[in-house]
Amino acid sequence: ATVAVLAGGLSHERDVSLRSGRRLSVALRDQGLTVQEWDTDAELLDRLRDDKPDAAIVALHGGAGENGSVQTILEMVGVPFVGTSSNGCRKAWNKPLAKALIRNAGFATPEWVSLPHSTFRELGAQPVLDAMVESLGLPLILKPDQGGSALGAQVVRDAGDLPAAMVGCLAYGDTVLAERFVDGVEVAVAVVDRDGKAEALPPVEIVPEGGVYDYTARYTAGLTDFFAPARLSEETTQAVQELAVRAHSLLGLRDISRTDAIVAEDGTVYFLEVNSSPGLTETSTVPMAFEAAGTSLGAVFTDLVQKAVQ
Ligand code: DAL
Ligand code: MG
Repeated sequence: ATVAVLAGGLSHERDVSLRSGRRLSVALRDQGLTVQEWDTDAELLDRLRDDKPDAAIVALHGGAGENGSVQTILEMVGVPFVGTSSNGCRKAWNKPLAKALIRNAGFATPEWVSLPHSTFRELGAQPVLDAMVESLGLPLILKPDQGGSALGAQVVRDAGDLPAAMVGCLAYGDTVLAERFVDGVEVAVAVVDRDGKAEALPPVEIVPEGGVYDYTARYTAGLTDFFAPARLSEETTQAVQELAVRAHSLLGLRDISRTDAIVAEDGTVYFLEVNSSPGLTETSTVPMAFEAAGTSLGAVFTDLVQKAVQ
């Protein structure tokens, strides 16, 4: 089977995706698959029609690769692909929507407010910021409500820093997700569909040396310590795995996903977000989870390709 690995793209996470796509392509070739590495651009539709790969893998992060747009094209052309459908992507990509769905299912997630850009114009910036601090307290976290790799995300400890952080966040999108800051252990939990069942892999614990898991801490080797499996009790391990499996199914995710969560000091597990196209770079947690589970990036994705072409 010929597999097209779709990477690159035009989002802010282009470079990350090129790294994910590269690593994945090498791993799949090692398994004997015929792999084409595609840098995804406006020619995607024509190229899919002309080249007709047996399957595609979406190794794109952010923007069109994660909001369902590229998946819609694949569905229209009828090329089977590894990864979540357009419908699931739309839900997972919208952080406030994902948080609401998870909270409705009975899981904890940090309190939040969604602030569309227009709110500041309509109500005035300072009253909006004051109300936000009033309801969430400090510190809080600002994130673009749709985004990845922590781009535009900032922890704000001092109300005086809010205006600048807000502007930085709005550079990445029209709506800001402001969340109460929950102190604790950050974990990433991969879920893989195997034999018709969603299975959680060992959680990976993330300990950034500088305390904040920002873009640089994510993608610079040595700036973050990872523990795979995470140093959690058996009970907490099960709790974060249950959350990840439920998130995978509630949000309509397929094949592979990664749920990010915080285990607070009192043991409460808080859902942060779910990723339909998790990073597969040298410093990404999903390949570490594969290793901890006794398998590998190449083996897992070869199985997923076989499932896609069946
Ligand atoms: N958005 C990046 C690629 C991740 O979640 O791993
Ligand atoms: Mg993410």
